[in-house]
Amino acid sequence: MKNIPRRRFDCLVIGAGGGGLRAALQLAQGEAHVAVVSKVFPTRSHTVAAQGGINAALGNTQPDNWHFHMYDTVKGSDYLGDQDAIEYMCRAAANLVIELEHYGVPFSRLENGRIYQRAFGGQSLNYGAEQAMRTCPAADRTGHAMLHALYQQNLKARTHFFDEFFVVDLLMDKDGYALGAIVIEIETGEPLIIEAKTTLVATGGVARLYRTTTNAMINTGDGMAMALRAGIPLQDMEFVQFHPTGIAGIGILITEAARGEGGYLINAEGERFMERYAPHAKDLASRDVVSRSIYEEVHAGRGCGPKKDHVLLKLDHLGAETINKRLPGIRESAIRFAHADPVEKPIPVYPTAHYTMGGIPTNRFGQVVAPVHTGPEEAVPGLYAVGECACVSVHGANRLGGNSLLDIIVFGRAAGNHMLEYLKENRSHRPMAEAAVDRAMARLTRWDKQGEGESVDKLCDELRLTMEDYCGVFRKQDLLDEGIKKVTKLVERLQHATLRDHSRIFNTARIEALELENLMDIALATVHSAAARHESRGAHSRLDYPKRDDRNWLKHTLYSREGNKLDYKPVRMKPLTVEPFPPKERVY
Ligand code: FUM
Repeated sequence: MKNIPRRRFDCLVIGAGGGGLRAALQLAQGEAHVAVVSKVFPTRSHTVAAQGGINAALGNTQPDNWHFHMYDTVKGSDYLGDQDAIEYMCRAAANLVIELEHYGVPFSRLENGRIYQRAFGGQSLNYGAEQAMRTCPAADRTGHAMLHALYQQNLKARTHFFDEFFVVDLLMDKDGYALGAIVIEIETGEPLIIEAKTTLVATGGVARLYRTTTNAMINTGDGMAMALRAGIPLQDMEFVQFHPTGIAGIGILITEAARGEGGYLINAEGERFMERYAPHAKDLASRDVVSRSIYEEVHAGRGCGPKKDHVLLKLDHLGAETINKRLPGIRESAIRFAHADPVEKPIPVYPTAHYTMGGIPTNRFGQVVAPVHTGPEEAVPGLYAVGECACVSVHGANRLGGNSLLDIIVFGRAAGNHMLEYLKENRSHRPMAEAAVDRAMARLTRWDKQGEGESVDKLCDELRLTMEDYCGVFRKQDLLDEGIKKVTKLVERLQHATLRDHSRIFNTARIEALELENLMDIALATVHSAAARHESRGAHSRLDYPKRDDRNWLKHTLYSREGNKLDYKPVRMKPLTVEPFPPKERVY
């Protein structure tokens, strides 16, 4: 494969969402020569869809501090979050939100000019005593505002962008060093090798595994699957967050801010049912709790609509002025996709796949960590990961709303800083591993050769239905075991699937085939990890093991592709400077 063109950079960032762009900015400002590769134009990355806000204990409307935020995050994680990383994130939040303000993010304002802060689920003052107002929004288009500001800052800092390039695979040498990646330009279909002294994976989540999801078409877990193929295990993949309020049937996000601003859920009897499930926090309990409550209402026959298959989110009592000022985006979505103007009538909603808590294991500097042979884990030299594709792990078994935008900013910056240090020690490019190039190219050429077989779309639809039916909100051993069999069969069938169009120019079907391979790998990681965890914790809710079991399961899962092997490692219970928050019963 000697004739593939090559480009060289100090740093390669894969993915142009908030995590990738925040890291790239740090690198470019630190005088590194940095390339960002994105399969879509950068401002179409999925961060653009984040709505309700970013958490930081600014204390603009009530006395708040990062300890309370840390407590809520540990509790929200159902004690599976690593407390050193959580402390680091919550302490850094206030400064980094102000920094975003200085980058040009148009945050919503209070009368006194300070950043407006709203209530969000699972957030409290004084360690659970009362509801906190901690989430900083730009109306209900916070991710959109952040992504555009970060993109503009990167242009100013002269980051180099490869727009609409798809990464086929990471390139690693036999000593385990990351050397960059092999990509294809979607417009021409031609491959390109990008050599880098250090590589960051920031490719986002994988909720496209499910039929109904808030996630964009692009969220196919590409970076996670690349890591698996490179022999790196994925951590805690059983923990998939279902957002309580997707538009019923189609999954489009209706932000938690709707409830933060005073909206509430009702069942077919008009009852505000969250008062029964979470008497204290009610509709602002943690997401896993609210999603399960909706599911239970519907399955008890108290669902709304002709099929009794959803509940209603009531907002009309807030009035048109508040809705237009604070929630203009979801008003538009509800009118367009649910034919319900929330100023006049409630929105039909149901839980929808939203966020991947698990991912590529990293430490709080963004370094990818993996067990070396069967020994203890070590940093993979030159390889970093941040954001939803990574598992640092600040979200543990269940993420709090507003903590994902924070995660990408805090750890994007931290990874950028650490990569700059790495560059000081590693000044030259290592020799390219030609065997790795050949392996990556084989992944591509197999699709060019295959003539007869099933279509990729059909397999993709079946996979998403299978995941919904066998590894959804509530789980059970027989269902999960059946899910493993079904996904394994789909993986086999994919080996014989075919592309009808073998052309090169803008052949998006070719990209979708590669994306489906990635989805299949992640589906296996998810079902295997879920079938093995015999307890209920956060978003992993087992009907056959309804209780959390700290004695046996207060540990992280590590899934390896080779033989679908599962390992476990301890949760980091010791924060950096404060006392730990020991596990206790989690009630809202
Ligand atoms: O509901 C929302 O606005 C989503 C926020 C989040 O996932 O952090």
